[in-house]
Amino acid sequence: MAVVTGASHGLGAETARMLAAAGATVVLGARSVDQLEAIAAEITAAGGKAVAIRLDLAEPESISAFAEEILACFDHVDYLIHNAGKSLRRSIHLSYDRPKDLTATSTANYLGPIRLTLALLPSMRARHSGHIVNISTVGVLFPVVPKWGFYLSSKAAFDVWMRAVGMEARPDGVTLTTIYAGLMHTRMSAPSRWMSALPGQSPAEAATGVARALITKPRIMIPAYGYATAVLTPILRVPMEIATTAVYQRLGDTDAALRAVDGKGTSDAR
Ligand SMILES: NC(=O)c1ccc[n+]([C@@H]2O[C@H](COP(=O)([O-])OP(=O)(O)OC[C@H]3O[C@@H](n4cnc5c(N)ncnc54)[C@H](OP(=O)(O)O)[C@@H]3O)[C@@H](O)[C@H]2O)c1
Repeated sequence: MAVVTGASHGLGAETARMLAAAGATVVLGARSVDQLEAIAAEITAAGGKAVAIRLDLAEPESISAFAEEILACFDHVDYLIHNAGKSLRRSIHLSYDRPKDLTATSTANYLGPIRLTLALLPSMRARHSGHIVNISTVGVLFPVVPKWGFYLSSKAAFDVWMRAVGMEARPDGVTLTTIYAGLMHTRMSAPSRWMSALPGQSPAEAATGVARALITKPRIMIPAYGYATAVLTPILRVPMEIATTAVYQRLGDTDAALRAVDGKGTSDAR
């Protein structure tokens, strides 16, 4: 049985479809229950097994209820895929009066996945079986960039926490793959219009990577360029910071970022 968080859209939805087509029973978790139920119904109509359960990673009670329902219905979890995520690229002055920017990113990307792991890991360790996949971002291996502070710091924090816990769980038969995903053309990346011109994966292409992680259980999966940046980033930190600051000063904020703040949205404002 596989649990996929953030299964209402993008990579999570495609992963759920792919795993169900391969014969897994899939639990889909996210906040958009209508969307989850539509995907679960689509999977069921195609002959697969899927259950939609509301999950809000910002609410500890929702996470407990999600985990309790899973363990009550299925007794155990074979695969836990931490896919849900909340991205944010916004100039910091636009976040001065928006506590939501901190809470939405830190709960979806860091605190919520920790709470869910704490709820499900004991049963996985007790059975000496299970595989966890963390969908991280290759961005945590890049030079730090302006305007992405909330997103990158929360993704990096969970990456570190999950790796530490993964090392403790491995001797008990529970393994971990961290996927440092590159650009995917999903709802998440769409507001940054320049990203649509960059090469990236479709959700279906990226889902095959998740499926490979479940089969071969590597410790990490990373695009080839990720290794180069991981090595070069500490060495070139200062010149990269200077260059990146100059680029990002020209980039401005996305319409979505501006709309959320002032209800208008203009593409050239910073
Ligand atoms: N797109 C990229 O270029 C890219 C690159 C590297 C890594 N990633 C990572 O890949 C993963 C999937 O991203 P995606 O591109 O498929 O994004 P997406 O289409 O925006 O999907 C994100 C999913 O996370 C769920 N989610 C967000 N906040 C949640 C919360 N508080 N509680 C429960 N679920 C929540 C959303 O569902 P609801 O809104 O229904 O709750 C949605 O199903 C993320 O972890 C992201 O950080 C993406």
